[in-house]
Amino acid sequence: MEILEQVRGFIDRDHFNLIGGEWTASRSGARISVENPATGEILTEIPSSTSDDVDEAVASARDALDGWRALMPAERARLMWRVGDLIEQHADELAQLDVLDNGKTLGDAMAVDIPLTAEIFRYYAGWVTKIEGRELPVSIPDFHAYTRREPLGVVGAIVPWNFPLLMCGYKLGPALAAGNTIVLKPAEQTPLSALRLGELIGEAGFPPGVVNIVTGDGPGAGAPLSAHTGVDKVSFTGDYETGRKILDASRGNLKRVTLELGGKSPNIVFADADLEAAVEGSFAAVFFNQGQCCIAGARLFAHRDIADELTARLVEKARAVTLGSGLDEATEMGPLVSGVQLARVLGHVDAARSQGAEILVGGERADGELANGHFMRPTVMNNVNPAMNVMQDEVFGPVLAISTFTDEDEAVSLANDVRFGLAAGVWTTDVRRAHRVAAGLQAGTVWLNTYGMFDVAAPYGGFKMSGYGRELGEESLDSYLQTKTVWANLG
Ligand code: NAI
Ligand code: MG
Repeated sequence: MEILEQVRGFIDRDHFNLIGGEWTASRSGARISVENPATGEILTEIPSSTSDDVDEAVASARDALDGWRALMPAERARLMWRVGDLIEQHADELAQLDVLDNGKTLGDAMAVDIPLTAEIFRYYAGWVTKIEGRELPVSIPDFHAYTRREPLGVVGAIVPWNFPLLMCGYKLGPALAAGNTIVLKPAEQTPLSALRLGELIGEAGFPPGVVNIVTGDGPGAGAPLSAHTGVDKVSFTGDYETGRKILDASRGNLKRVTLELGGKSPNIVFADADLEAAVEGSFAAVFFNQGQCCIAGARLFAHRDIADELTARLVEKARAVTLGSGLDEATEMGPLVSGVQLARVLGHVDAARSQGAEILVGGERADGELANGHFMRPTVMNNVNPAMNVMQDEVFGPVLAISTFTDEDEAVSLANDVRFGLAAGVWTTDVRRAHRVAAGLQAGTVWLNTYGMFDVAAPYGGFKMSGYGRELGEESLDSYLQTKTVWANLG
């Protein structure tokens, strides 16, 4: 597909931070190059912000707080709904930005990233007028007690590069609905759609300073934001090692923290599964978005009786994948987000190989015409066991590790034998088994005879070291509110 004129125009513009409604140059003057991972071409540059910029952005969010809270709920709701509409109106443009910046396919961006982001703004727009306190039935005469649900204040949102626009929606939707103001830091690899979203938020009529955007890398901009004592909550999605740093940095003012960290999600296929559906579902579970999903079903546990057939069919599908630019309609998988990520994923594969895994297909980068991009062949391996790194560490790339089991108890204990607990899949036609296993899995989301379903109404988040707090749904809104109890003496 041709790159839209508006997209070219936007990319070629000078890029700044959004602070107090103004596009502002970074005090540092330093820049970060933004790369198209399909070609290696440098698209543009963004500010490499530092703590000075973060200080300004936090101050501007603080200034905007009273005004934002004072707006009538119906008015806040209308503004948020307008952002949803604008995202929809600019869907092609936003999708292309995410494709150029991240490498994902246009089909995925148009089917998932963009519409879900629009829906998040609308869903939380609906909540603005439904945030209610309660009257408390206290057992003391002549006292009236009630609760108010109030925003936390200034929220720092630190997002990753795998779903660049969508992750902004995950944070901004509930935080704004709850009446907070924001400092958003997009991932340095994929800042463009967030900056465009900043323009659309202005166009929707948001008061200046309610949403501020500071671009930069983790140490330069993310770390000072997470340590800032003027920030009341940090919501983070990314690596669990980074999550730990953010938690440490939150100590200064005991800020609230939501952590959506990595996963190593199991996908279990029983012998009684609808094999056709299990093949399709298990394939998409791990390879969607080039495997760069925190919920990737990267550990496949196949019942011994069907393991050979399931494996053969997955290998066949992996071999047939068309790699290419996400803008080409024929492309089924795009590049990984960066050369760094490609090297990381190849390192995981090499380690697995040396620990005895058998690579059945893939295991290498794509060369030839694709050599300038960060393309990796979809990879399937077996002969893996729980002691290997590839069964314990998040790979975050197109790599599937297959192992077998003989009975239900073994499947559940293998699935749970990992420090993460983000999601899990189960394929079986036995409805009793499906729910039994769902109850036994240590995961924040379990998919039965499906994988990777998301809806803004369904809360999502981790057990164990996949983090804590929930995103989406009413639970996410709760995490951006605090309860105030008011006592009145009527005597
Ligand atoms: P990362 O966790 O370093 O980056 C995510 C975000 O955190 C980016 O905006 C980054 O600038 C920011 N950040 C980095 N260091 C920070 C710090 N000290 N304080 C505050 N913010 C900081 O992840 P990275 O390096 O891009 O990828 C490494 C691995 O992390 C991947 O291979 C994958 O396993 C995992 N990951 C998981 C994601 C998920 O959705 N759960 C998303 C991205 C990465
Ligand atoms: Mg990029």
